[in-house]
Amino acid sequence: MRTLVVMPTYDEAENIETVVRRVRAARPDVDLLVVDDASPDGTGVLADRLAAHDPQVHVLHRGRKDGLGGAYRAGFAWGLDRDYEVLVEMDADGSHLPEQLHRLLDAIEHGDGADLVIGSRWVPGGAVANWPWYRRAISRGGTAYARTMLALPVEDATAGYRAFRASALLQIHLELVASQGYCFQIDLTRRAHAAGLRIVEVPITFVEREHGRSKMSAAIVREALWRVTTWGVRLRLGPARRERAVEPRRARPLGRI
Ligand code: GDD
Ligand code: MN
Repeated sequence: MRTLVVMPTYDEAENIETVVRRVRAARPDVDLLVVDDASPDGTGVLADRLAAHDPQVHVLHRGRKDGLGGAYRAGFAWGLDRDYEVLVEMDADGSHLPEQLHRLLDAIEHGDGADLVIGSRWVPGGAVANWPWYRRAISRGGTAYARTMLALPVEDATAGYRAFRASALLQIHLELVASQGYCFQIDLTRRAHAAGLRIVEVPITFVEREHGRSKMSAAIVREALWRVTTWGVRLRLGPARRERAVEPRRARPLGRI
């Protein structure tokens, strides 16, 4: 199946070349789109250089830092426009091993064929390497809270290593997704679940970055807490409101490119 890895970057100059090389080596059949938000450290320039030498590497430049959610919305729109059949989310810092990409793609292409595959840290066989205790606690706590509030049948609701069938993304109505930070991951999970899509988790090993730093911030955690709580409360207010829990009031344009 025609597959595009969408890779958001913000200040990943130390990582971008290595990770692109690893993706190309692990799955030469797969194309790659780097979505860079005008990184001050010149990541976008490095990505352009890689793209100039490899027709399967592409770069989408956005004018300013606008969050993980915005970067993925823009990248997915780019891929859907070009008729890719599978779209993958992958971090650029080496945390998502390109060598494990086949696990995600196999779950879409073989067997019953998932609509959404989540590379999960918290299923048997999954793991996290080199994370401090507080990152583990935020991740486990965040997933537990989202699972309970939103009745999600997944062990890793915030995971950022995922593969979507294009048809699934179209059903989810990306243009309505307002989440900006990592909450985007929970938002897409709940929408996939609400749409009755087939979600499969496969174990992956998440390896904490060696270079550069995480863009996780208090504001990102606050957004997730606030939105999950709001969705959960609306879900409990009964079927009449359930629709609104899925459809936010204001539609946003599909990715500000
Ligand atoms: N274009 C763009 N714009 N890229 C961004 C932005 C942004 O505003 N913020 C972060 N990124 C990129 C980073 O450069 C990296 O490639 C990827 O998105 C993940 O960002 P990190 O800052 O490394 O995330 P993390 O390691 O803290 O969090 C990971 O785990 C979370 C769950 O625990 C990610 O996989 C999250 O998606 C995930 O929810
Ligand atoms: Mn990271």
